[in-house]
Amino acid sequence: MIKLKNVAKTYDDGKTFVVKDVSLTVNKGETLVLLGSSGSGKSTTLKLINRLTELSAGDIEINGQDIKSFDPISLRRSIGYVFQGIGLFPHMTIAENVAAVLRILNYSIAERRDQAYQLLNLVNLDPAKFADRFPHELSGGQQQRVGVARALAADPHFLLMDEPFGALDAITRDDLQAEVLRLNQELRKTIVFVTHDIFEAIRLGDRIAVLHQGQLQQIGTSHDILANPATQFVEDLFAKSKMQCANLIEQEK
Ligand SMILES: Nc1ncnc2c1ncn2[C@@H]1O[C@H](COP(=O)(O)OP(=O)(O)OP(=O)(O)O)[C@@H](O)[C@H]1O
Ligand SMILES: [Mg+2]
Repeated sequence: MIKLKNVAKTYDDGKTFVVKDVSLTVNKGETLVLLGSSGSGKSTTLKLINRLTELSAGDIEINGQDIKSFDPISLRRSIGYVFQGIGLFPHMTIAENVAAVLRILNYSIAERRDQAYQLLNLVNLDPAKFADRFPHELSGGQQQRVGVARALAADPHFLLMDEPFGALDAITRDDLQAEVLRLNQELRKTIVFVTHDIFEAIRLGDRIAVLHQGQLQQIGTSHDILANPATQFVEDLFAKSKMQCANLIEQEK
């Protein structure tokens, strides 16, 4: 479980807040989607959870323990993180990319290779074909799969995914969304997934948290949010595609 309590982040000593008074809980095994437009504070919220960025105010607990009590580096290693943009190491092969965290954790070369192969299979990339290639020798969608495999390498209970499919074409995106749903049925991770795409949010989220200008507008199932928008912002956000959203929610049931 991940619990945010009155979380805030300011970069200018409190003149403005990029995240303001956000409280929410991500339950064990749940996928919570953070939905909001560009600049609404989605990435910042993720980075506060794994301490890539430090809190200005409030508290975050992971399984009941204050994140401030963890060493930030070991905290970060224990939480899978898929970067916004792909962020593979360009000079490392695909297998080395996937196993990067395992090298830091002192796994042997053979163990790393073995794990990397298993993870590449898990994300539907044939290791025989891809393990020894470099990132630039893969398509965007394939690189994104590697990003997901890499985040899973240390078998973390928690995964933070920051617009992992933002840059992909609609078909590849559809494929990868299906993949994440399948993976999650298999692995039951607790996931915070960031997107600005309403349909992606409906498809992947057990619940959705809508952020606007750093503030939490509403958190709930897509069905609840669509039926009872808590603020004008949420109502407007879904208004344009209300029928499409309702159909998708029906399909995903
Ligand atoms: N290091 C920083 N210093 C100052 N301001 C920052 C810093 N990092 C982010 N911000 C600001 O915080 C706000 C929220 O940024 P954040 O990256 O969380 O947005 P986002 O919702 O992820 O947007 P996007 O969808 O474009 O990725 C933005 O206005 C951004 O300019
Ligand atoms: Mg972002």
